[in-house]
Amino acid sequence: MSNSVMQAILDRRSIRAYVQEAVTEEQKQALLQAALASPSAINSQPWHFSFVEDQALLQEVNAALCERLVANAKDEETRARFSDPNYSVFYHAPLVVFISGPASPEPLKFATIDAGIAVENLALAAQGLGLGSVILGMPREAFLGDKGPALEKKLHFPEGYEFKIAISIGKAAATKDAHPIGENKYSFL
Ligand SMILES: Cc1cc2nc3c(=O)[nH]c(=O)nc-3n(C[C@H](O)[C@H](O)[C@H](O)COP(=O)(O)O)c2cc1C
Repeated sequence: MSNSVMQAILDRRSIRAYVQEAVTEEQKQALLQAALASPSAINSQPWHFSFVEDQALLQEVNAALCERLVANAKDEETRARFSDPNYSVFYHAPLVVFISGPASPEPLKFATIDAGIAVENLALAAQGLGLGSVILGMPREAFLGDKGPALEKKLHFPEGYEFKIAISIGKAAATKDAHPIGENKYSFL
């Protein structure tokens, strides 16, 4: 079976290296449209999308994350990895979209799933636009420490919202094989 949606799903990979070239205004608008078109439980749209190109702000989030991971490192390898000034949890992408959502699971029990669906919409839209992306859970660490509240404000997370997921997007500077398919992951009944 061949169609453009299947093609985008099958061709998408986590891209962890980017050309240092801005995402165009037209591409950003298309990504926004894809994010806002995401389905959500009872159409609650429990999200805020922060499109960030400000590299200084991304570096601030990265630094907060590294500080915590170095402080909590259990081995020298981890300490060295997050002390490296070239380390970027965002892989130096020109654009990162943060999805924040309600911190409390009540009454919007599916807000985290909704954010996950929206981030996949963004990943597939990026693929369709000829851009690479990688979904990122790790930036969560940056918001868990004392710098978290200030970062949430700078990233325009609405009051009562927390980090759910992020995605780095940009023109790919690397290729990657498809991930190996796990065994026994499905049944036809
Ligand atoms: C919820 C979620 C969180 C992820 N967090 C990270 C992350 O913090 N850093 C990273 O490099 N990749 C992250 N990934 C990417 C996965 O490692 C990747 O999707 C997986 O290895 C399969 O590879 P593929 O995306 O190329 O098919 C995340 C993916 C998902 C779905």
